[in-house]
Amino acid sequence: MPKKSRRTTRRLKKVTPVPLMQLISGFWASKTLAAAVELDLFTKLSGRQADVHQLSQLLGIHPRPAEMLLSACTALGLLGKRNKRFSNSSLAEEYLVKGNPYYFGGVVTLLDRRLYLPWNRLLEALRTNRAQTWEDHSGMFEQISSNPDKQRLFTEGMHSFSAQSGKALAAAFDFSTYTQLLDIGGASGAYCIEAVRRYPKLRAVIFDLPPALEIAREKITEPGFSIRIKMHPGDFFKDELPKGSDVILLSMILHDWSPEKNLMILLKCFNALPSGGTVIVSELMMDDNKAGPVSAALMSLNMLIETEGGRNYSWAEYTAWLKKTGFKNIKRVNIESPGANGILIGYKS
Ligand SMILES: C[S@@+](CC[C@H](N)C(=O)[O-])C[C@H]1O[C@@H](n2cnc3c(N)ncnc32)[C@H](O)[C@@H]1O
Repeated sequence: MPKKSRRTTRRLKKVTPVPLMQLISGFWASKTLAAAVELDLFTKLSGRQADVHQLSQLLGIHPRPAEMLLSACTALGLLGKRNKRFSNSSLAEEYLVKGNPYYFGGVVTLLDRRLYLPWNRLLEALRTNRAQTWEDHSGMFEQISSNPDKQRLFTEGMHSFSAQSGKALAAAFDFSTYTQLLDIGGASGAYCIEAVRRYPKLRAVIFDLPPALEIAREKITEPGFSIRIKMHPGDFFKDELPKGSDVILLSMILHDWSPEKNLMILLKCFNALPSGGTVIVSELMMDDNKAGPVSAALMSLNMLIETEGGRNYSWAEYTAWLKKTGFKNIKRVNIESPGANGILIGYKS
């Protein structure tokens, strides 16, 4: 065999369709996790061991599907199995048991109940450049805030997401020289709660539409936090932002909107800050060449499903807007959390 075609054969042999099978069956894994969370498997199994028979009774399902579900959860690393008895893996015990402080089940439920069926229309979204979770005559957040069930699902899901990112941000950014954080579109207050917990002198203001703030009120339960964290209802397109804060956070806000609207939001932030003030943008940032990472690229497609003009932008795009708005000394900081892989920090001189 000539040299060149021997090399081609060797290269072809290394490639198998196994990764394609993993990609196309990804929804089997995600639906398994979502069904187990809906059945409350991990909360019911917390701190104990049980066999198929006991679990089928606990879950109220036939032993045949119970055995299949338990095997799949074990194979996916959500459960452990010893002597025919199942227990939660440490991942499930920490993040999928209701009542735990960093319960992640809200994100699982949000993605499954709100996004799974609209994602089934991804092709339609690609062909029409239209969102699939709401109708043309209103907007994503108008639909959410006018329906208490949608608001609860969305904001509880975001809380599960952002408690993690908030903890990562508070560790990565030193708030100790600031007096007050203004969290624009701060929703349940997940970021503010994590920041004031870590920085005992910091105060915070959550700015959001009124229905989101009702849920924030329920989350601010730690002693003294209701004095240190205030709410400011408002619409960042119609209202001026409140003054008096020296650091402003935009977490998962700019990926909801078009570049033009983002410039408008950033300009309002710039005007609300005193000189010496700081803005922080927290997102799943796209690499500058927009070839990844996977988490940001898929979140970006999710913004096609959810929004009118949003997408996950690159570090370079956010940096350009911050500069255009007047912010200086822009810094990139990588963080690791499910909802954000980085923050951009800009200063008003
Ligand atoms: C994707 S969520 C992000 C929530 C939070 N920052 C986080 O990272 O978890 C977007 C938030 O922006 C709020 N929002 C959307 N449009 C708004 C507007 N015009 N004025 C104020 N808040 C708005 C929503 O209510 C929602 O809480």
